[in-house]
Amino acid sequence: MDGEGLIPEALVAAIEAVAATGRVAKFLYTVPNYHNPAGVTLSIDRRERVLDIAERHGLLIVEDDAYGLLGFGEEPRPALRSGRRDGVLYLSTFSKTFAPGFRVGWILAPRVVREKLVLASEAQILCPSMYAQAAVAIYLSTMPWLDQVSVFRRVYRERRDAMLDALATLMPPGTSWTTPAGGFYVWLTLPEGLDSKQMLAGAVAAQVAYVPGTGFFADGSGARHLRLAYCLPPPDQVREGVRRLSLVVHDAMAVAAPLGATV
Ligand SMILES: Cc1ncc(COP(=O)(O)O)c(C=O)c1O
Repeated sequence: MDGEGLIPEALVAAIEAVAATGRVAKFLYTVPNYHNPAGVTLSIDRRERVLDIAERHGLLIVEDDAYGLLGFGEEPRPALRSGRRDGVLYLSTFSKTFAPGFRVGWILAPRVVREKLVLASEAQILCPSMYAQAAVAIYLSTMPWLDQVSVFRRVYRERRDAMLDALATLMPPGTSWTTPAGGFYVWLTLPEGLDSKQMLAGAVAAQVAYVPGTGFFADGSGARHLRLAYCLPPPDQVREGVRRLSLVVHDAMAVAAPLGATV
């Protein structure tokens, strides 16, 4: 993945790698808008190509659009589902625009899998919370929820800007990060030789926290990356968090340099 999201060539390579083991890739799970954790958004051109590849390989797409309403000004890009209704399960959640604890979401699914999803849901949760669904339904039908979404967009944009400014000012050379156009997260890449998991204890001692990149890779890689969230703290706290993190990174570089890291 890069700034434009999922790389089509990488998708083909992944499908072929699965085929080489004698198995068949059945579906692609993807977060095209304001990705968690990478903060990137799939470009329109790549959306088309991903749809083509999926169709060619008989791959179902699970399009998770949890953050789609939380863009920072740009026009929303067409959902993958709008290009291929039969091959895409489109899902989203009220966790980011109403309240996370309610755990109410929705799915638009091709008819052939819809009944199976209902069965799977019954098997999994037996009885979804009526109270939570009623609360969301009443909120949507009686409150100016789109205005509230506009407020969220403005608030998160300010926090994103605070984080990007502070990173640009304080992070050492060799560090890079994504520029999210919406959502909650910046994906940071540390200078070579640093390990975000090893750094975490020092960060927590300095009272700043992040999620190490390894938490997002099935194969245990990703140690040079970390996910920063700007959604909760106000801009001043975001800046202070980045300041503390930059000290932790500088300390880690000082330790790593004599060991031969290229920092
Ligand atoms: C991409 C994505 N999908 C779904 C969710 C969670 O949705 P829910 O709270 O409805 O399980 C999250 C929350 O972090 C997310 O990042």
